[in-house]
Formats: sequence, structure tokens, C-alpha cells
Amino acid sequence: MQVTWPPSSPTRNGLSRAYTELIEIPPRGALGMRRFLVFSALASVASAAPTFTKDIAPLFYKHCASCHRPGELAPMSLVDYESARPWAKAIRQAVATRKMPPWFADPRYGQFANDARLSEAEINLITEWAAAGAPRGDARDLPPAPKFIEGWRFGKPDVIVDIGQDFTVPAGSDVYKDFTVPTRFSEGKWVRAAQVMPGNRQLVHHVHVFVVPDDEGAAANRTAPFGGFADLKNGLWRVRDSAPVVNDACAENTALPNMSGFEDGSLATMLPGKPPDLFDVFGDGSTAKYLPPGAKLKFQVHYAKAAKPGTDRTSVGLYLAPHAPEKPLKRVDLRNRFFLIAPGEANAVVKRCYDVEEDKRLIAITPHMHYRGKRATYELVHADGRRETLLSVPNYSFEWQLQYRFKDPVRMEKGSRLIATFHYDNSRNNPANPDAAAIVRWGDRSEDEMMVTWTETVDGVK
Ligand code: HEC
Repeated sequence: MQVTWPPSSPTRNGLSRAYTELIEIPPRGALGMRRFLVFSALASVASAAPTFTKDIAPLFYKHCASCHRPGELAPMSLVDYESARPWAKAIRQAVATRKMPPWFADPRYGQFANDARLSEAEINLITEWAAAGAPRGDARDLPPAPKFIEGWRFGKPDVIVDIGQDFTVPAGSDVYKDFTVPTRFSEGKWVRAAQVMPGNRQLVHHVHVFVVPDDEGAAANRTAPFGGFADLKNGLWRVRDSAPVVNDACAENTALPNMSGFEDGSLATMLPGKPPDLFDVFGDGSTAKYLPPGAKLKFQVHYAKAAKPGTDRTSVGLYLAPHAPEKPLKRVDLRNRFFLIAPGEANAVVKRCYDVEEDKRLIAITPHMHYRGKRATYELVHADGRRETLLSVPNYSFEWQLQYRFKDPVRMEKGSRLIATFHYDNSRNNPANPDAAAIVRWGDRSEDEMMVTWTETVDGVK
């Protein structure tokens, strides 16, 4: 499937370079930490304000530098004082309102391994620093700058598969292009990690890499999900206005394709702000993804609108597992492709359920909507009737495609039911809404909508 993100306005074009690399922060050591704690404790007693070198730089290195450094997606660098200083007021505002770092999960539900939120103490420190005029502090206090691993994050891949051509990307509009290439693996392979490497960072916006058995199968797969109810225009699908409407796929048992169960998802993705894919989720070699013999890889590349044409040769680096894992890591993708959002409708509710057919653990969830997306909630009704809210994203933003990784994988035993409830705002009050007069249905273009959940699961609850 195509994902159309983000809005292709000129201000967003810089985001096409977005690609988070591993950030390594030199350990501060116990001493540094103690100094920090002592400082916090004494802050109200001694009236010395926090300084950049001593107090703020470590926070920025840890929580901001992955995006706010030269060449990355954010508009300014926060890794050195000179660059950060003019932004002090905006920084204070952004952290106090929790606009930054971007994180959209309601803290009342679920615990996430990649929770990006600052603590109250950290927010207070930044606020005090800004209020005190953003002092620099003593240069000797400055901790070593973080090191970033550019390029292949996990070292040299075992296998690199590219799109098979130097593709000329035309200027002036967003381009979606599929490339299907052979892996030439004579036997099945277990993959422990994968990194999509854009050939041209200025042009490649995001990439999905799928495993396909063969070309014909791939073509059939692309039309099957719509049951003949969609049209293809410029390579992009849209469900017809006249297609059947099912907004609550949990209540209605229809014969429409993929309204229950799940679909297999992609092998690897490059999404702005998302790190490369690590399939060894527990770090002990017990999970990996499988590539069947003779598999082909289909790259689905979104090239952002660019002023000048250019060439791209995107690739994916595969890191092979030394042996078969105990459990394959699987994608369980949930979609409702048959919703309809009426013109002006401010709170359209669209649902999709998944009745768990065998014990699984849920590792991560990524909700995906477009401009009209407003809220996403995931609940699990356990086999014994207990109801649990796994994740609530009360203020969904199309600008951020965040994956929420559970701190402790969620046990979804056989007979439990995962309920995804999405809310959409097609009214004029939604500032992101491109057209409040439109009848909105599923479509690849950002101006259409989607109702997708990408998950990662492993079989078994133990
Ligand atoms: C995942 C990437 C990412 C992280 C992490 C991140 N930022 Fe940002 N930040 C952005 C992007 C992209 C923008 C520009 C777009 C926007 O404003 O949403 C931005 C914008 C800002 C702005 C301008 C806000 C405005 O209102 O225009 C400030 C200030 C800021 N960030 C501060 C921070 C601070 C401080 C941190 C760490 C505590 C941080 N950011 C962490 C990506 C990030």
C-alpha cells in the first residue's frame, strides 16, 4: 500500500531527509549524574540558574539531537549553544506544552519502551534556563557531544538489495514508484534487522519494502484488497464513492475483503523519524523475520516534490540471523478500506477488529491516517472478558508517523479481540483538512484517507 506522508508543502520538503540514526551518548558516569541530582535538589536554595553547558546540553543531546542537528529533519540544531540560544523562548514553549519531543500517546494508558516524553524535572530545568536568559555556563562543564552513526546503523549488511536502476526522479510533483527486484536466494533466510538506505536523501521521502512471491502475484494482491470497488489513477488507488460502506467492521460481518483477520505487512520501512527495523526484538536472537527462497522484494518509494530532478538508487541492507529463531516476528496489519466520511462530518468513527486466532504477543503498534485523522484508540478484550486500553492517541498528527513499542509485550491470548477505533474530522474546524466538502473514502493520496494499523507480533504468549 502507499502511504502518503507528509503534506508535500514546501515547508515540509526538508523532512525528506529525515532519517534517525543511532545516537550514542558518551556515558556521563555516576559523577555527572550525582551532580545533576544535587543541582536539582539545591536549585531552589541556591539561586544559580541552570546553564547550557552543565544542565541543558545533556538533555538536548539525549532528547532532541536525533532530529535537531545539522542535516537532520528539524529546522534548527540544538547541539551547540550558538544554535540553540536564539530558540530559548520557543524551546521553553515547546517543552512546556509537550509539543516537543513529538509523542502522542496518552500517558494514562500503556507503557512504551520508546516513550519520548521529558520528565517534569527536565521540563522545569529547561524552563528555568530559558527564564534566566539562557545562560551559557562554564565551557569546562560541557559533556562530550553525542556521536551519530551515519549510514548503516548495524554495520555492513550481509546482503544489500537495491531497486535495480538509477531512477530519474522528475521535479515538480510527488512521485510514487514501485520497483520489484529478485533476491536470488536459493534457500529461505532469517533476517534479524533491515535498513532501508535512501539513494538520494533529498528526494526519497519514505519507503516500504515488501516480500512478494512473484510479479503476477503482486499485481493480483494489489487489486484484491478492494474487491473491485476501487479505481486506479496515476498509480494510486481510491475506493469509489459508490462502494459499499462499513464504518464499524467490528459489528458487521461482511463479505468484503480483509474486514476481519489480518494482512501480512511489509518487511522493512523507512519512515521519517523512525529508526531502522530490528527484528531481534528481545535482543537474544529468539525472533527474526523470514524471507522465503526465490522471494522478490518490492520497493514502494515515495519521492517528495522537488524543485530539481535527480537520480535515486535506494537499497535495503539485510542482516541475517546466524540460526533460525524460536519465533518468527510477524506483521499483523489491520485495515478497514470501506469507511465513508461525509462532507463536513466532525467526528466520524471507524472501527476494525481482530479476533486473535492463536496466542500472540503484541510488540508494537503504528496507527496510520491522513489529514483528517484525529484520534486512535486500541483496546484489547481478553478471552476472559477483561477490557484493557492498550494505546490512546488523542491528538493524532499526520506529520508524525510514530510507532509505539510496548515496554512489556502485550499478551493477546487466543479468543481475545483487538479493537481499533479511529476518529476523523472532515469539518472546516480541522486546519489540516484539504477539503471539507469532499466525500472521503480510502485512497493512496494524502487527500483521501486511510484506516491502517501496522503491528509487530510474535506467536505464543510466553
Ligand atoms: C523526532 C524528531 C524530533 C525530536 C526528537 C525533537 N524535535 Fe523539535 N522539531 C522537530 C521538527 C521536525 C520540527 C519542525 C516541525 C514542527 O515544528 O513540528 C521541530 C520543531 C521544534 C521547535 C520549533 C517549535 C515551533 O513551535 O515552531 C522547537 C522549539 C523544538 N522543536 C524543540 C525541541 C526540543 C527542545 C527537543 C528535545 C527536548 C525536540 N525539539 C525534539 C523534530 C524533533
